[in-house]
Amino acid sequence: MASRVALVSFLLLLAAAPAMSTNYEGEALQALRARLSDPSNALQSWNPSLVNPCTWFHVTCDVRNRVIRLDLGNSNISGPLAPELGRLQDLQYLELYGNNFEGKIPEELGNLKSLISMDLYGNRLEGEIPKSFAKLKSLRFLRLNNNKLSGSIPRELVTLSNLKVFDVSNNDLCGTIPIDGPFATFPIQSFGNNSRLNGPELQGPVPYDFGC
Ligand SMILES: *[C@@H]1O[C@H](CO)[C@@H](O)[C@H](O)[C@H]1NC(C)=O
Ligand SMILES: *[C@@H]1O[C@H](CO)[C@@H](O)[C@H](O)[C@H]1NC(C)=O
Repeated sequence: MASRVALVSFLLLLAAAPAMSTNYEGEALQALRARLSDPSNALQSWNPSLVNPCTWFHVTCDVRNRVIRLDLGNSNISGPLAPELGRLQDLQYLELYGNNFEGKIPEELGNLKSLISMDLYGNRLEGEIPKSFAKLKSLRFLRLNNNKLSGSIPRELVTLSNLKVFDVSNNDLCGTIPIDGPFATFPIQSFGNNSRLNGPELQGPVPYDFGC
């Protein structure tokens, strides 16, 4: 009898125990999800009671269970980008193109030190391109085209020596186009359809006014 009471109490305890919750990276992804509208249920598999986000759809981890890819292109998602995404220290691919992400690009995305590719094109993002992107030293692909971004192209980006593809066409940028570093190689189409963006800077010691 006593042991049966003990067993029942044990089972009750188990049932009442809080579910094991997801890790630090899973929490960052849940912070993103919490503010989004997801009418096509792309994020339905994001179960916060799992120990890590590695089995969630659209999330890829490495062998150490660290998130290395987030693939949510063309997923009919709308809402803001959470600054918590900047916590994904091993993220290599941030693929959020072709949705209705809106608001500013969080400067915290500049903390994604392992990032190889950031595709935010085809959304409704506004505000400026964060200067913090100059910290993304591994970045090879940066596509921000077809949004509503304004302000000038941060000069700091000329230090991104691995950058191979850069596209900011179809935005509302202004000022002049950098020519240094990787910017020497980007085609003019990468800057197209920004009505207030002027031509490439002239070379020389003249102090140009990049403000706009
Ligand atoms: C996208 O979401 C809208 C509602 O906001 C819905 O009407 C539409 O069917 C969705 N499209 C797809 C392809 O799921
Ligand atoms: C600029 O906009 C026009 C009209 O929408 C489009 O046909 C053209 O492809 C755009 N150019 C670039 C570089 O995206």
